Amino acid sequence: MNEFSGDQNFKISNQKVTESCPSNIALIKYWGKYEKQIPANPSISYTLNLCKTNTEMEFVADETFSVQTFLAGKEEVKFAEKIAKYFRSIEEYLPWILKGKYIIKTENTFPHSSGIASSASGFGAIAKCLMTLDQSFSGQTDECFTLKKASFIARLGSGSACRSLYDGLVVWGETKEVYESSDLFAVQYPNDEVHDVFRSFNDWVLLIHEGEKAVSSTVGHGLMNTNPYAERRFQEAHENFATLKKILKQGDMNAFIQLVEHEALTLHAMMMMSEPAFILMQAGTLAVINKIWEFRKETNLPLFFTLDAGANVHLLFPSNKDEDKITEFIIKELVQHTQNNGVVKDMMRF
Ligand code: PMV
Repeated sequence: MNEFSGDQNFKISNQKVTESCPSNIALIKYWGKYEKQIPANPSISYTLNLCKTNTEMEFVADETFSVQTFLAGKEEVKFAEKIAKYFRSIEEYLPWILKGKYIIKTENTFPHSSGIASSASGFGAIAKCLMTLDQSFSGQTDECFTLKKASFIARLGSGSACRSLYDGLVVWGETKEVYESSDLFAVQYPNDEVHDVFRSFNDWVLLIHEGEKAVSSTVGHGLMNTNPYAERRFQEAHENFATLKKILKQGDMNAFIQLVEHEALTLHAMMMMSEPAFILMQAGTLAVINKIWEFRKETNLPLFFTLDAGANVHLLFPSNKDEDKITEFIIKELVQHTQNNGVVKDMMRF
């Protein structure tokens, strides 16, 4: 039992709800977890403004439990099985959840083949739909609690999804550096602790490799259980939080760049030190990283990168007077390393 255990007093009815949820990109990475999606270390991400999942969920009350899913209009049986399993696993928190049939139609605003993780925005949108249904069935109207529970429910689908429920900078995982941070749900990083230079940023994703990745993040998290460097890494994530907190307050762009790139490379170093080892970066990923470093050395302009669990490179740069010089360089020098001239242009504004 916890504060999210469901109320047994509910009244179900046929409903159709629609919700939208953005994706997010981590600055301090979550990599490694314990049972029930408890993160091995705290993480912090920027919620994106444009890459979103839009989901329509139809609930037909009092039918035998079943789930049908459509992704961009195409029926997806494997995805439906995954969602049905997920729904069964969260009955304790939403006691009405198995008492009907679902037709779920979902669409991403970013290209499906892009390799951009859709699990964060996807599970975020599903959790929001479920909480809208829950409000209607249980009569519970506390918006703050609903959002917190949506984050809790999303986490049980995909860990990083719990951060997508909030805008701006979002923390998941308990750290003494962030008030009320929790392993169970995400919280917004206090806006008044963030310098203006970090509140208007671009994130252009270079699609170095489109399609499925060789090793899923579920397998990757699991390999941290036997990684001899894991404990040191988890500790370092805590230390990086303390450093980042000061950077965010002071507006120290150079230190921010150093920390964010270090986190990205550490994530991939952990993959290389797993047993069995795996590498998700491709030749294009490395070429782009080297070119970014050369560009920064020559121009001193704040273009830097982060990576998620894949080959694509997230190019980060603040929105300011230098933006045009940076985008010109990206188009001239970096886009050539993508598979199909693929660039997804997103941003964070808060
Ligand atoms: O939420 P998952 O299981 O897809 O894991 C996401 C892991 C990273 O994207 C690599 C890091 C993060 O914190 O988002």
